[in-house]
Amino acid sequence: MTDPNAGGSGQPEGPDLSALVIAILGGTGDQGRGLARRFAIAGHRVIIGSRQAERATAAATELGSSLGIEGAANAEAARQADIVIVAVPWDGHGELLAALADDLADKIVIDCVNPLGFDARGCHRLPVPEGSAAEQAAAALPRSRVVGAFHHVSAVVLLDPQVSKLDLDVLVLGDDRQATDLVQALAARIPGVRGVYAGRLRNCGQVEGLTANLVSINRRYKAHAGLRITDI
Ligand SMILES: NC(=O)c1ccc[n+]([C@@H]2O[C@H](COP(=O)([O-])OP(=O)(O)OC[C@H]3O[C@@H](n4cnc5c(N)ncnc54)[C@H](OP(=O)(O)O)[C@@H]3O)[C@@H](O)[C@H]2O)c1
Repeated sequence: MTDPNAGGSGQPEGPDLSALVIAILGGTGDQGRGLARRFAIAGHRVIIGSRQAERATAAATELGSSLGIEGAANAEAARQADIVIVAVPWDGHGELLAALADDLADKIVIDCVNPLGFDARGCHRLPVPEGSAAEQAAAALPRSRVVGAFHHVSAVVLLDPQVSKLDLDVLVLGDDRQATDLVQALAARIPGVRGVYAGRLRNCGQVEGLTANLVSINRRYKAHAGLRITDI
């Protein structure tokens, strides 16, 4: 099996992660399909989830049969996985997770949701009563280990077959050291990516909100910008 830390440096030591099954709620969207593609290439069994199982199967098929990605209804995908990535829009996020609390119990749940609004002045951070989408997830899923990560990874880049190696760090936030270590190592399974611990879940709001700045950068410079943290 491949080295779990293969994509970067400074990652926590850990066991081989390649046997971990990954489900992606809302995996039919750009971000979910992009992450599904990269983790399938890294050797994981990946299940795309959807509110409609047929849509999930269609999205999985579209990504290419050689990747072996499966599709299922969100609840079934969650039940079959060790790690579940939440890749749904902010609207409907809390409702979906509350409905899946039993299916997500005892699992690591990675939230990459950015609560953002768009108006005539561009993209901006939305207020979240819990502080962040990740903290909303933690409140809705008291039996899960919620980690915030992958907020700044462009779906366009993830889906681009010309990009074999990404050039970015993934900020990983959470209150469970084992879970954040594992998610850091998981991020590093995508070539060129480092998973960087960036604090506890209560600091996730500004990480989610920073995406609004990246959207502004992308618009001005016609880019798909990512972050790199220096001196580590
Ligand atoms: N796109 C990016 O580059 C990017 C980068 C970093 C983070 N993100 C975050 O990742 C999340 C997904 O982004 P995206 O661009 O992939 O979004 P999207 O395409 O708009 O939505 C993803 C999927 O979520 C499901 N969905 C839509 N409305 C829903 C609702 N009310 N309740 C439950 N499921 C719903 C849909 O799947 P079904 O209809 O099949 O259920 C949809 O295909 C967002 O929160 C975004 O902030 C995106």
